Amino acid sequence: MSPAIDYSSNRRALVPVRSNERFARPRLVEVPKTPKGERVQAHDGRELYLRSIEPGDVPALKRQFARLSPEDIRRRFLHSMSELPDSMAQRLTHIDPAVETAFVLMDETVKPAEMRGVGRIFVDEAANSAEFSVLVERDWSCQGLGALLMQRLVDDCRRRGLGEIWGYVLLENRPMLHLCKELGFVRRLSPDEPGTTLISLLL
Ligand SMILES: CC(C)(COP(=O)(O)OP(=O)(O)OC[C@H]1O[C@@H](n2cnc3c(N)ncnc32)[C@H](O)[C@@H]1OP(=O)(O)O)[C@@H](O)C(=O)NCCC(=O)NCCS
Repeated sequence: MSPAIDYSSNRRALVPVRSNERFARPRLVEVPKTPKGERVQAHDGRELYLRSIEPGDVPALKRQFARLSPEDIRRRFLHSMSELPDSMAQRLTHIDPAVETAFVLMDETVKPAEMRGVGRIFVDEAANSAEFSVLVERDWSCQGLGALLMQRLVDDCRRRGLGEIWGYVLLENRPMLHLCKELGFVRRLSPDEPGTTLISLLL
């Protein structure tokens, strides 16, 4: 008597899969997205997400502007502004990566996520240098975030092979002058702009 053949254990290996399975589209495998930013921690332990600015950040940028004091607006833009015009919000969020970098610090513990800080550079290719600006919201200041943004901008200028990063700062803006001095920036007098100084760092 021939021995009984037991097909039950390896049946799937012997039987070809049905044609509709063989020629079915490959299952889409979820590819993890490359992280577009990184978590950073303020001195007091609060967490923010550091990433590049995006076109969709217009509402967050406008909400942040609405929370700023007149003094912070003047220090950031070097003049008073009662509102951030739409055209300017669009312009500030639609950057040209060839000549601009803009990092934002997003607070994702609230919904919608809020922008707590912004640091940006605009490259002057002819001068091989970049102008910076930086802003950290009051409730988040003195937490090392301004220094972090400035350091990232300096690193970005070095990555681009630029020779200098510079910016205008009001002479009354002690926190910014102090912060930049610690990063190695030096002050240059700018007689054309009373009350303002130009600070720069050779890279
Ligand atoms: C200037 C500004 C960016 C600083 O940001 P910040 O997150 O508070 O800065 P940091 O916490 O990284 O502080 C860095 C250094 O700045 C100095 N500093 C910050 N806030 C200060 C304050 N209120 N008074 C005195 N020094 C201050 C400190 O020396 C600090 O060093 P330390 O941490 O070793 O004490 C922020 O106050 C701001 O956005 N101001 C309005 C816009 C502006 O002025 N932009 C600059 C011109 S483009």
